[in-house]
Amino acid sequence: MPGIVIVGAQWGDEGKGKATDLLGGRTDYVVKFNGGNNAGHTVVVGNQKYALHLLPSGILTPGVTPVIGNGVVIDLEVLFHELEALAARDVDVSKLRVSANAHIITDYHRTLDKVTERFLGKRSIGTTGRGIGPAYADKINRIGIRVQDLFDESILRQKIEGALDAKNHMLTKVYNRRAVTCDEIFDDLTSYVERLRPMVADTGLELSQALDAGKTVVFEAGQATMLDIDHGTYPFVTSSTATAAGAASGSGVAPSRLDRVIGIVKAYTTRVGAGPFPTELFDEWGELLRSNGFEFGTTTGRPRRCGWNDTVLTRYASRINGLTDIVLTKLDVLTGIESIPVCVAYDVDGERFDELPVSQSDFHHAKPIYEELPGWSEDISGARSFEDLPANAQAYVRFLEERSGSRISAIGVGADRDAIIQVHDLID
Ligand code: IMP
Repeated sequence: MPGIVIVGAQWGDEGKGKATDLLGGRTDYVVKFNGGNNAGHTVVVGNQKYALHLLPSGILTPGVTPVIGNGVVIDLEVLFHELEALAARDVDVSKLRVSANAHIITDYHRTLDKVTERFLGKRSIGTTGRGIGPAYADKINRIGIRVQDLFDESILRQKIEGALDAKNHMLTKVYNRRAVTCDEIFDDLTSYVERLRPMVADTGLELSQALDAGKTVVFEAGQATMLDIDHGTYPFVTSSTATAAGAASGSGVAPSRLDRVIGIVKAYTTRVGAGPFPTELFDEWGELLRSNGFEFGTTTGRPRRCGWNDTVLTRYASRINGLTDIVLTKLDVLTGIESIPVCVAYDVDGERFDELPVSQSDFHHAKPIYEELPGWSEDISGARSFEDLPANAQAYVRFLEERSGSRISAIGVGADRDAIIQVHDLID
């Protein structure tokens, strides 16, 4: 029956893998609908560890059909690198379906991502440098190259030439870089054509038919709500729709087919890259969260900025995404902290805000208003039911639930795959 969306409710890296694992065996399709290889998740299966950036995590679950939807931007070199690495470890990658309408990241997108960031200087976004923003910019400018263009050589040449017209002026005259030739891009992209051909499909049609047939389809958002191009902390965002609405537009499935929206919320908050972050900690508490939570980026290795949980953000994410469930992750990282601050509102130049301020300037000035909750010192990594948690940990979870406006259906209590408490079923 269900179409299930999984979204990050904060600034990314909330640990979506915990929710995917819970759905695991009962999923027929896993769809990536936005972003590209700016994402990063480490998946542990058995005693094997896999770092994926572009491929949907479902590729590792036998029986699941992984899909790259039309809303994704694809770096073909990365796609085939990840596929080959998995095939070398005997993972069956033959089921992967790729939308004919997904856009391609080329070498000039990667170059432009890096040079524009450099030119922005202290106003830089802190992008992952993977060419994501420039590829989406070309899509919106209608000079992008889509997967289907690779199968018509004359169209492909025309499109590359069209894209390079203005780009070469930019590269040489503004950024002092060398010009790119149509031939080099053409040769690079066409070198993947034969391997790509069998994967390309009308994925919107396939997914709609799968839902008609009663299959379970999981739509997994890359990045997170606060990095969404429309609803995040613009301009310090990624360039795609990372909220639940993107699951429909980025996959070609109607919004009315989406039954559940699961938001992933970390027990505290992290962010990579630049931009406002009201509860950020610059002291030893931030250091403690970073080291206990292993908060270093999977894609770039950058240390993540860390802070206390912010229920104003989660309430916003609940509303924007229409969350039906929350999976709370990494509760165990807070073990041993005597008193845990939780942000319940902001103070902006003396005025109290219970909701996200509409003005970005106000958000930059927002100071968290905290409530302190008593902590716990018991090891919770073995807890498998809510009642197994110490009373103060239960109260902490209940407090987040009340403030965020969505029910907490599962709680991550450790790094192990099975270190999770399930409170409500995520599929029924
Ligand atoms: P871009 O997506 O590479 O353009 O980067 C834009 C912003 O999104 C930067 O602040 C990145 O650090 C952030 N970002 C992109 N992907 C992720 C992710 O998977 N997790 C966390 N932050 C991300």
